[in-house]
Amino acid sequence: MDFFIKDLNSADYDGLIYPLFYGEDQEDICNCVKSKVDKLRSSDKFKGESGEVFYIIEETQDKLQYTLLLGLGKKEELTSEGIRIAYSKALKKAKELKLSMLAVKMFNSEKVCIKRRIKAIYEGMVLGDYKFNKYVSDKKESSVKNIFIKAIKDEDINKAQEALDEIKVLTSSVIQARNLVNEPANILYPKELAKRTEKIGEEYGFEVEVYGKDKIEELGMHSFLEVAKGSSRSPKLIVMRYMGDEKNKGDILGLVGKGLTYDSGGYSIKPTDGMVMMKSDMGGAAAVIGAMASISKMKLKTNVVAVVASCENMISGKAYKPGDIISSMAGKTIEILNTDAEGRLTLIDAVHYIIEKENVSKVIDLATLTGAVLVALGDTTTGVVTNNKDFYKELERASELSGEKVWELPSFDEYKKLIKSDIADYKNIGGRNAGTITAGLFIGEFVQNKPWLHLDIAGTAWSEKDKGYLSKGGTGAGVRTLYYLAKERCERIDNNK
Ligand code: BES
Ligand code: ZN
Ligand code: ZN
Repeated sequence: MDFFIKDLNSADYDGLIYPLFYGEDQEDICNCVKSKVDKLRSSDKFKGESGEVFYIIEETQDKLQYTLLLGLGKKEELTSEGIRIAYSKALKKAKELKLSMLAVKMFNSEKVCIKRRIKAIYEGMVLGDYKFNKYVSDKKESSVKNIFIKAIKDEDINKAQEALDEIKVLTSSVIQARNLVNEPANILYPKELAKRTEKIGEEYGFEVEVYGKDKIEELGMHSFLEVAKGSSRSPKLIVMRYMGDEKNKGDILGLVGKGLTYDSGGYSIKPTDGMVMMKSDMGGAAAVIGAMASISKMKLKTNVVAVVASCENMISGKAYKPGDIISSMAGKTIEILNTDAEGRLTLIDAVHYIIEKENVSKVIDLATLTGAVLVALGDTTTGVVTNNKDFYKELERASELSGEKVWELPSFDEYKKLIKSDIADYKNIGGRNAGTITAGLFIGEFVQNKPWLHLDIAGTAWSEKDKGYLSKGGTGAGVRTLYYLAKERCERIDNNK
């Protein structure tokens, strides 16, 4: 499916997506559509509510032509997210109707600028079209081949093209992340994740270095190695670097992604139902790989290093056990009370590594870390723990641009006491209560004094069903937010000069 900005003759398409606001007398609506819409509205058949789709068929000389009326809700309430969801629904209808050449008529809005309108339409349609069907023999190809955005004002054409070029890169990075998450664990294990990261690095333009077990041992990443021990597949430390602002080498954004290619729970074994989707326990890794892809391909003037400590959490005679006391790269000891709380053990070494060896000035970690975040916030919102309000504001701004919702959880000192052990420096779980916060704060103990954001994406990295522009499976959560955070950072630095 490809997208163009082009005014087409009606003979050249078989479907037209026609946006309409709720209860509006739209000034830019053509007469032929207007009379039909008025009648549909007065008979309550189509009102223009956000995401409502109604189609009209017309017969031309040699074919049938479809007009898909698409509701966008009230004009003054329009948001980018509303556009994404509405256009994902329009695309689904176009596919149902087996349309192949679609024209999308642009609309005016004072609430959402032309660039954001273009981006949201594209995201809604392309991300909504995604399906992981690699292993299905009888693939049902999408009927929609080309999409043309038409009726863009002359003065907006350049901006629209610029926005389209950017969103194509960003969306393809999200799809890379979704593909990684959806890949099963018998195919995608640490070595394969490293190989695919190298390939993505080559294609998008960032450097990838992969360290094997020997080097990980040499680095003293004991906590990471303890989790990896139970698996016959050896761990990999994947390091990604993009230095787009050589003059400011002291300013590097550090990204850390949880990279458990499978989490059985270890000896604190998960029930089968909970284990099936644990191939997605590298959603944080996928997010940082996707973010690196978009940041480097768009050649953002900023420096970013990302690290993934990838392994499997398995059971064997070599595996770590509840009751063990382990060490970590930072030298702190940890009492293991539950082998299923493994993500944080890999992350503390990755965080210590990225600060000590890659000299990053700020850290963001993303992890499918706790089931508790689903209980607290559901599957629509990422839970955040931070030690820096200003950094959180940057994240909030980026999240407004991406539409990926975030919510800060409290991090009072009382919670920190819950992860102190009597027989070691820490214990790896804080008890039943406040599970997402204690998991986050455990990682926070290893960030030294760096500004830090922890994003628990256990609820948002995976979707149980097709919903809006998400499809069942990996969502690519975090990629777009991280991209905008990096982009806003370089724009702010530029403005301050
Ligand atoms: N990978 C899981 C968290 C998870 C749960 C991700 C559901 C996606 C969906 C993590 O390693 C885990 O097992 N966490 C435990 C922590 C507990 C033992 C303190 C959990 O949430 O149950
Ligand atoms: Zn676990
Ligand atoms: Zn896990």
